[in-house]
Amino acid sequence: MKISVAGTGYVGLVTGVCLAENDHDVTCVDIESHKVALMKSGISPIYEPGLEELMNNNMDRLHFTTDYKAAYKDADVIFIGVGTPEKSDGSANLSYVYGVAEQIAASIEKDCVVVVKSTVPIGTNDKIENLIKSQLKHDVKVYVASNPEFLSQGTAVKDTLHTSRIVIGVEEEVAGERLKEVYKNFDAPIVVTNRKSAEMIKYASNDFLALKISFINEIANLCEIIGADIEDVARGMGHDSRIGNKFLNAGIGYGGSCFPKDTKALHWLANFHDYELKTVKAAIDVNENQKLKLIKKSRKYFDNLKGLNVAVLGLTFKPGTDDLREAPTLVNIPLMLEDGANVRAWDPIGIDNFKKVHPEDVTYCYSIEETLKDADVCFIFTEWDQVKHFDLANYSKLMKNPIVIDGRNCYDLESVKSATMVYDSIGRETIHNLEVSLIQ
Ligand code: UDX
Repeated sequence: MKISVAGTGYVGLVTGVCLAENDHDVTCVDIESHKVALMKSGISPIYEPGLEELMNNNMDRLHFTTDYKAAYKDADVIFIGVGTPEKSDGSANLSYVYGVAEQIAASIEKDCVVVVKSTVPIGTNDKIENLIKSQLKHDVKVYVASNPEFLSQGTAVKDTLHTSRIVIGVEEEVAGERLKEVYKNFDAPIVVTNRKSAEMIKYASNDFLALKISFINEIANLCEIIGADIEDVARGMGHDSRIGNKFLNAGIGYGGSCFPKDTKALHWLANFHDYELKTVKAAIDVNENQKLKLIKKSRKYFDNLKGLNVAVLGLTFKPGTDDLREAPTLVNIPLMLEDGANVRAWDPIGIDNFKKVHPEDVTYCYSIEETLKDADVCFIFTEWDQVKHFDLANYSKLMKNPIVIDGRNCYDLESVKSATMVYDSIGRETIHNLEVSLIQ
């Protein structure tokens, strides 16, 4: 089967490479020629574990081009995997998706199934079909199918090759059959439904997970007030298979390219139809507050951060990625700088991207030790393994005041108890093994 994929971001490129791994001939299309040149030489333009290797293993079945006309004209299936970023009003920006739809209409010369992988608001697949049909240059049949992805950054290849489910939203059986053929080597349950339901499955899944995180974060906040321990509470809850033990990690809120955008987009869509999605709204509000939790905690120790050496461990929205989209650091570091802090930041792979936003006002460090040197306080924003495995004794050895405010509960309290430090984490008792006089 001849497959083309529009867009070579996380969704498009991972889809293309994984389909090639499953013996399909795949052409990946991108408008940026420098990205295409990189991929042609076997380099992935995005950081994703295992992707570059899989790409290079399948180069005989993978093609990269900016020439969309050539890529689309005789394709059996065209996947749309371009971005749908958030607009300032919270709705999804569909201009890239519609742009590809127009290119498809102008190019295809044989019957074809257009598969929408990008996360799009409910009803968008219908609009894409109408747009393509109204602008077709040749007399061919086009079927549009919704086939949302469920990949997480950092595990995108594994999540795609071993996906939890394949959702196929179609209006005509022929399109469903073609997609089943595409996925015939995949070992996953297939859910076939209509297009709107498939679009909704994607939003409802992401929004439910966002809600789960905001819920556990609120319970964590209450645990702090009443003296309960969120780690034990989550463990106790997770044994109930109806709740499940995943996505119950309390912290400083969800970031990334999906949850913040998809919660706002569904809420916006509901509002547009005069319906208020109250639970999703609550998840969004709780998350906004949660992101500021570490700065608020620091006020227990310092009136403000003026003149203090502040160590920041982790810049990205989660470990395993260099992505900063909606990362809590993006709102917290400006507040620290506004306070007049000297911010020193470490991240194993996120520094280059952070430098684009803060080229000069942050000092970047290339080891945790260097970051902590003479620090008055340390904030942990991302639970990188390097942080989780860091020797706790080093905090008091290196810092001026070993006050560690951990937004990701990287350490168990028993081990902290034998270290000399103040350790303030999320939803748990604060460990205070320091002479009070050391603190301002
Ligand atoms: C998410 C979905 O998991 C994926 O199915 C969808 O296709 C895209 O969005 P991703 O954004 O890559 O994937 O990251 P994920 O691992 O889900 O984490 C999202 C955010 O939630 C991160 O900021 C993470 O730190 C936070 N999180 C996750 C928690 O705070 N607690 C948890 O228990 C889990």
